[in-house]
Amino acid sequence: MSEHGGNVVETGQQLGIDPALLLDFSANINPLGLPERVRALIVSHLDIITHYPDVEYRHLHQALASANRCEYDQTIAGNGETELIYGLVRTLAPRSAMLLVPGFAEYRRALQQQGCQIIDYALSEQDGFQVDFALLDAVRTHRPDCLFIATPNNPTGLMPDAGLLDRLASLCEELHIALIVDEAFIDFLPQGSTLAPRLAGSRYLYLLRSLTKFFAIPGLRLGYLLSGNKETIHHLKRTREPWSVNAFSALVGQHLLSDEDYISRSHAYIARQRDVLLQAMARFPSLMVWKPEANFIFFRCLRQGFNLKAALLRHHILIRHCENYPGLDSAWYRIAVRTEAENRRFIEALTHVLHDADDGIFSNLLPPAG
Ligand SMILES: Cc1ncc(COP(=O)(O)O)c(C=O)c1O
Repeated sequence: MSEHGGNVVETGQQLGIDPALLLDFSANINPLGLPERVRALIVSHLDIITHYPDVEYRHLHQALASANRCEYDQTIAGNGETELIYGLVRTLAPRSAMLLVPGFAEYRRALQQQGCQIIDYALSEQDGFQVDFALLDAVRTHRPDCLFIATPNNPTGLMPDAGLLDRLASLCEELHIALIVDEAFIDFLPQGSTLAPRLAGSRYLYLLRSLTKFFAIPGLRLGYLLSGNKETIHHLKRTREPWSVNAFSALVGQHLLSDEDYISRSHAYIARQRDVLLQAMARFPSLMVWKPEANFIFFRCLRQGFNLKAALLRHHILIRHCENYPGLDSAWYRIAVRTEAENRRFIEALTHVLHDADDGIFSNLLPPAG
């Protein structure tokens, strides 16, 4: 079974149904769907399929650099952010790395492939899974070669304190620790505190970005990496396989970040729908829900031994169970914020599967700690 959400093909096969019948709450994709601009660009440029893309991706790198107010040489695009996680780990070849637990699975896989020693830094339910300043002490004590941190974190949806991130970046710079900040979901936060302004003066800071979630193109694939360390970027460009970003991704990537209309509509829509979901979910005493800053909701089902994922699948709704995240167990789940109609269907199904015990109306919605 895949470690990730969005696995409708496998789930459909297991259930013996057409995957198109599944309502997928397990992958955190913008519910507004493909931006019109992307559709129009691809349709009007179908013929580029007969040419190799520019192997240097000059226009794409230029667009990504200017959208992020950094230099061309500080930017590299990838076939989804995932390609760059693996490429960066291969290039840096860390002997030891610190990971926040729970966190996205691919950091660990990429590090393990390099035989890297992994130091887990556990986020606890007691602290609301929020990372706090004790992380700085752990970094000083262990002095790993690199540290991954996701802002906001997946699966919790929580954003670390901006002051902490700033101190962490300074500390890693001072101790020569590669700080790899995964900003895959930061576009969903209208005021997301990216570390991009620190890139210029930094040699140890790496920012990973994904365009697949916010711009709803996980099937097309596009992500990028920004770093003040131009040698690392140059090395990655020189050593990776040519043409890994396809021509359509390279084309649409030049235009996505300036699509202000899609960006602001997405922020407003997702904020509204997330509130609807949070309020509805807070009414179920058997759910403990974490208030996220991201476009997905992390929660715990308090009913002992109850398999909520299996129960919802009977309604053809696929959610992400989180039991395969180190540090979590089968009581934990994650759902994406989807369209108004889909969210309503989810709440109806949830009401159906949880109906018997939950008739109290009290809030167990937790604010992010810290
Ligand atoms: C935190 C995080 N980073 C990176 C990725 C990978 O993104 P991409 O689709 O751009 O490879 C994911 C995908 O789920 C993710 O959750």
